Formats: sequence, C-alpha cells, structure tokens
Amino acid sequence: MSEPLQIDFITAFPGMFEGFLSESIPARAAAAGLVRMRTIDLRDFSSDRRRTVDDRPYGGGPGMLMKPEPWYQAVEAVRTPGARIILTSPSGRRYAQRDAGLFASATHLVMLCGRYEGFDERIKRLATDEISIGDFVLSGGEIPAAAIADSVIRLLPGAIGGGREATESESFGSSGMLESPQYTRPPEFRGMKVPETLVSGNHAETADWRKRQAVDLTARRRPELLAQGGTFAAGYDDLTRESR
Ligand SMILES: C[S@@+](CC[C@H](N)C(=O)[O-])C[C@H]1O[C@@H](n2cnc3c(N)ncnc32)[C@H](O)[C@@H]1O
Repeated sequence: MSEPLQIDFITAFPGMFEGFLSESIPARAAAAGLVRMRTIDLRDFSSDRRRTVDDRPYGGGPGMLMKPEPWYQAVEAVRTPGARIILTSPSGRRYAQRDAGLFASATHLVMLCGRYEGFDERIKRLATDEISIGDFVLSGGEIPAAAIADSVIRLLPGAIGGGREATESESFGSSGMLESPQYTRPPEFRGMKVPETLVSGNHAETADWRKRQAVDLTARRRPELLAQGGTFAAGYDDLTRESR
C-alpha cells in the first residue's frame, strides 16, 4: 500500500478540528491508513510568554494581523520536499473540484489557517497555493481548511464506498456537470412520486434519464459549466446539444 497522504493544519485554534478529525469519512480514512492528519498549534512557534501571533497593522486600520515570524517557523518545521503549502484567503484562487483532484495526488498538504484581519503579506511567500472557498468572509481559515481537506480525502482510493465511480458520478465529476436528482424509498411521499423510469429497473433507460436530467439541471443552474464542455465524458456532447 502507498504512503498515506499527510495533511497538517497550522492554526491558532486547534480545538476547531476536533470534530472533523474524529467523525465520519475523514476519521475512517485515517483509521484505514489512507491519510494522516495533525493539527499544529501556531502559538507553539511564538517567541513571547503570552504566545502572541498577531500585531497591529502598519498604516492603521481596524483589527490585528498575523505576524510573519511564527508562521515561517511553523511551516519550516513541518514542510517536506514537494509539499503543497495551502494558504486560506478570501483573495485566493477560487477553489474547485479540479483543485481537489490536484491536491489528492500530492504527498503532503500543509494548510495555513488565518485569523483576525488575515496574514501579513510576507507570509504569502510561503504558500504554493492561495485558496478561497468562495466570495464571502469567514472568521478564520479552519473551516475552509477542513472543507478543502474533506473534498480531497473523499477522492483518495478506498475513502468512500462505491470507489472512483461514486466520486466521478457526483457533481463536477468526470462529466463536469451537476448531478441528476436522486430518490430513495418510498416510491410516493405526500403525493410526490419517484419518476417512473427510476422505479422501472431498466438500467439503460435510467442511465439515459440521469444524463438528460444532469444536462437540464446544469443548463438551468450553472450554464457556464456546459460552456466549459471540454470535460464531458463520451456521449454527453450530443445530449448537451439537444438540450440547448
Ligand atoms: C476575517 S478573515 C480576513 C479577511 C481579510 N481581512 C479580507 O478582507 O480579505 C480571517 C481569515 O479567515 C480565512 N478566510 C475567511 N474567508 C475565507 C474564504 N472565503 N476562503 C478562504 N479563507 C477564508 C482566511 O484564512 C483569513 O485570513
């Protein structure tokens, strides 16, 4: 078996990762030896008795900024050759499923979780990737780092039931589209019926229905994904043209 993916979260609030590390798919993947995760307390790399990691911004302005010294010491203590150093920031590149695929093929991810008003600009030189999880501002980088790690871990072979097929048929998988609507039992609930094709048990018709639904849903909600067409799996192009 190959070496587990190593993920380090550098944070001033390590307690925020307790639930993430101990529950569900990430915890099971760690138990199965697919991933190894550590939280690293940034304050351990502070040089004063009060374990300070922030300071006032030059030029004034509200709030505090993260100081460079503890970050440089922490990253230099943990990084390995070829590690991806991922700095979380609202001004980073917008995270997408293709990044998850890229990170899943790495050997070591080091996640830098900002706090306060963010990082002194010089800390960004440490990063190989500066990542935003969307156009909104959170109080810290712990939730973005956990979101990124979760999306990466579920791509590791063996992490989720159904294997590669399960992740490739999801939204943004190999078709590059949104996933089609899904149903479970009962076949009718409060007057809402499961589409006839799905209960019929006909696999070919079901596969065709799902493709059409995925194209329709994507055209309505995220037309730009259809315009990016290059990632479509064989057979999706015709369906796309039909639905236009
Ligand atoms: C309050 S935010 C700082 C926001 C910063 N002053 C700005 O306007 O861009 C504190 C930290 O939360 C994290 N963060 C907040 N929103 C984020 C987002 N959308 N994506 C990634 N990280 C985010 C970053 O680590 C950031 O340094």
